[in-house]
Amino acid sequence: MTLIDGKAVSAQIKQEIAAEVEQIVAAGGKRPHLAAILVGHDGGSETYVANKVKACEACGFKSSLIRYEADVTEAELLAKVEELNQDADVDGFIVQLPLPKHISEQKVIEAIDYRKDVDGFHPINVGRLAIGLPCYVSATPNGIIELLRRYNIETSGKKCVVLGRSNIVGKPMATLMMQKANPGDATVTVCHSHSRDLKKECQEADIIIAAIGKPNFVTADMVKEGAVVIDVGTTRVPDVTKKSGFRLNGDVQFDEVAPKCSFITPVPGGVGPMTIVSLMKNTLLAGKKAIYQ
Ligand code: GUN
Repeated sequence: MTLIDGKAVSAQIKQEIAAEVEQIVAAGGKRPHLAAILVGHDGGSETYVANKVKACEACGFKSSLIRYEADVTEAELLAKVEELNQDADVDGFIVQLPLPKHISEQKVIEAIDYRKDVDGFHPINVGRLAIGLPCYVSATPNGIIELLRRYNIETSGKKCVVLGRSNIVGKPMATLMMQKANPGDATVTVCHSHSRDLKKECQEADIIIAAIGKPNFVTADMVKEGAVVIDVGTTRVPDVTKKSGFRLNGDVQFDEVAPKCSFITPVPGGVGPMTIVSLMKNTLLAGKKAIYQ
């Protein structure tokens, strides 16, 4: 069994990005600039955004954090999105989700200029991904593809089960795994709450990508000997032994599943660090105007 070290891979990629940024700046180019909008004080969102700002520093990017209280109006938020769309210094920006209930996430996502949508959530980027055109790809699935690539994990012709059908992980993950590409070229099944025999689907899978947000959902009896298991789960569960009072729990019952696997990602230290580094890669692409002018 090989433990996939997302922390080490992400550190390596951040170094690669930082080196490229210094080359760009030395040649008289512009330092990439990522802006992030954070609404309210959700603990998870605060941590994610703080980590994104920290990663920008490590990559040599400029970053801007724009904060609003949870009672900000949708109109105010949309006005800020429009301002960032027009700001030539900002290469890409994100609006951290979830948003308070009185704000339409879809409306906000669609208000972002797709050329600055480094989250890859805008329908134009999602549509371009679906038909295999260059675009910004959602960070978590793109990070998983990068792990599969760097660990030389064969995906061509393999049976891949994706657990979960969210717009930001499950759906784009399935799209990437079935893409005519390497990694890709897999036979993909997407399972969700209405799937009839999810256990059997998993038992037949060469690769399981678990993104349903249910701690310890994938158990050893669901996993074939030699399978590759990628755990996207990051549920916060109370833990008095931690300073923060919680720990992150994956979707996979790691201790019993790991011995059966050829490769497995831990939680934390697997997919999580790759998600942030994928956002950094998209920001570098935005800074270089590599996808859109
Ligand atoms: N909330 C959870 N994941 C993400 C993400 O990748 N981007 C944004 N903007 N919000 C999120």
